[in-house]
Amino acid sequence: MFAKQSFWAKYGNLFIKGTLITLALAAIAVVIGAVLGTVLALFKLSPNFILKSLGNIYIEYVRGTPLLVQAFMVFFGTQVIGLNLSAFAAGALAMGLNSAAYVAEIIRSGINSVNYGQTEAARSLGLSKGKSMRYIILPQAIKNILPALGNEFVTVIKEGSVVSVIGVGELMFQTGVVQGASFQPFFPLLITSLIYFVLTFSISRALGYAEKRMARSSR
Ligand code: ARG
Repeated sequence: MFAKQSFWAKYGNLFIKGTLITLALAAIAVVIGAVLGTVLALFKLSPNFILKSLGNIYIEYVRGTPLLVQAFMVFFGTQVIGLNLSAFAAGALAMGLNSAAYVAEIIRSGINSVNYGQTEAARSLGLSKGKSMRYIILPQAIKNILPALGNEFVTVIKEGSVVSVIGVGELMFQTGVVQGASFQPFFPLLITSLIYFVLTFSISRALGYAEKRMARSSR
């Protein structure tokens, strides 16, 4: 007969796999979110009415609908248009598209936090609009943006649990597998909540530390 294995020996690798996929999902989503979010923020700040409206509509629509619905829409929507994305790719895409709307607002408020006098000074020195944004405004805005972007990463780690519904094998999905296989409804969830907590707590601690150092260096 087989020796009775401990819970951890039996299911530990599922938790580890889930955690790695959760982290990969969050990393990809934040990159997509940061790139698309920057574009959306520039759209929203643009004097062009059409770009501004597009930015506004995207941001309001995405923030006004649940990520759960968006995850299903991306998963099935990409199939309808003939793209056969894996659950992981669809999940990462949905989370990135979702995060972009929040990132756009973070970036927009970061840019707006730089005093308008800086733009006036740059423009009066003869820099074009684009150049003053690139060399004068954005470098200052980034100091205000980075901490909020770090918080977004923490949020995205937690929100990743939502895309377990389309079959992405991240931490929450693996928890369901363990619950079923072990006939234990509660204990696997307890472990999962601790894993999420360790991840988010250590990341926000590290971010807080980086933020303090940045504040010191700019004094
Ligand atoms: N829980 C929200 C929803 O279901 C998603 C929040 C995402 N937030 C974020 N900062 N990316 O719609």
